[in-house]
Amino acid sequence: MEKLNIRKLWAVAALAALVAQFAIASASASETAKVFKFYCAQCHGLTGKGDGPNVTKDFPVSPRNFTNAKEMDKLSDADLKNVIMDGGPSVSKSPMMPPWGKTLTTEQVDGLVKHLRGICQCKGKQG
Ligand code: HEC
Repeated sequence: MEKLNIRKLWAVAALAALVAQFAIASASASETAKVFKFYCAQCHGLTGKGDGPNVTKDFPVSPRNFTNAKEMDKLSDADLKNVIMDGGPSVSKSPMMPPWGKTLTTEQVDGLVKHLRGICQCKGKQG
């Protein structure tokens, strides 16, 4: 009798954990989309083509076009994370690309890296 109860309890706990995990996973995917829209799309564009409303002809460089798989393949996931956290100048690129390390959490940045890989449909430089 007691054994059965414990088993039931385990089943309930496991199910609860599964549901919680799913909730977190799906929340973060949609959260990433929000984060991108809010912080990145103004320059990089909603679809990542580098044509956001913030971009004027006075921009000395165009924001990276994330749909350009050839260009995006030159960067590893670590490169992407770096430049998102520390900004353009940290990788000898334009300061027009701001650093986000103080604004976004590591989880949000990891989410963005995945989001960009989704846009470019590329895996990036390995290793
Ligand atoms: C104020 C405009 C602006 C905003 C906002 C912005 N970027 Fe950028 N981003 C740029 C520009 C300009 C470049 C190109 C820099 C260069 O090539 O010198 C760039 C380049 C990049 C690159 C390529 C870096 C490389 O090494 O080639 C990545 C990745 C990137 N941005 C990600 C993001 C993400 C993610 C966000 C949102 C958190 C974001 N950017 C927000 C302007 C912006």
